[in-house]
Amino acid sequence: MSFHENRHIAALRKNYQRKGLDLPDLQDDPMTQFSIWFGEALEAEITEPNAMILSTVAPDGVPASRTVLLKGLDGESFHFYTNYSSEKGLHIKENNNVSLLFLWLDLERQVRITGKAFELPMEESLYYFKSRPVDSQIGAWASNQSKVVPSRQYLERKFRR
Ligand SMILES: Cc1cc2nc3c(=O)[nH]c(=O)nc-3n(C[C@H](O)[C@H](O)[C@H](O)COP(=O)(O)O)c2cc1C
Repeated sequence: MSFHENRHIAALRKNYQRKGLDLPDLQDDPMTQFSIWFGEALEAEITEPNAMILSTVAPDGVPASRTVLLKGLDGESFHFYTNYSSEKGLHIKENNNVSLLFLWLDLERQVRITGKAFELPMEESLYYFKSRPVDSQIGAWASNQSKVVPSRQYLERKFRR
């Protein structure tokens, strides 16, 4: 795309009108602050408030980002579920430095998190797996995350089997 064709992108502009960020309003503990803001995101009924961008680093140092869903919180960690053999799973196995980004555009707010990823206890993964609709459970077994799917029929056949 040429510079001229790009001008309309550069012209996209939004005036942020919601409330600002004042230090006295912030909690000392960032996790407490996150819980408050997450509650506000839920209350505002924005689309997928628990969607977050997870970035990992490949062995060659190249970062990779994708969306995952927040499925649990405790005082010090953010929980998500994925396939350990996926690209992100393999990245984390080699290097567990990760970042998370929540972007709540409707609230004019983002939250940036940097930390280390660890496997949740097996019981917790199992508990979540069992809580999912049976079609989602089968879907998770049938699809090898991050792998090229030969065809739609292949996936449907695997699902039925
Ligand atoms: C809204 C949304 C939510 C998603 N949530 C998850 C999730 O919770 N866990 C997951 O493994 N993949 C989730 N995905 C799919 C991932 O973004 C990604 O495509 C997939 O996990 C393969 O990533 P990888 O090849 O980088 O490992 C989600 C995608 C979208 C668009």
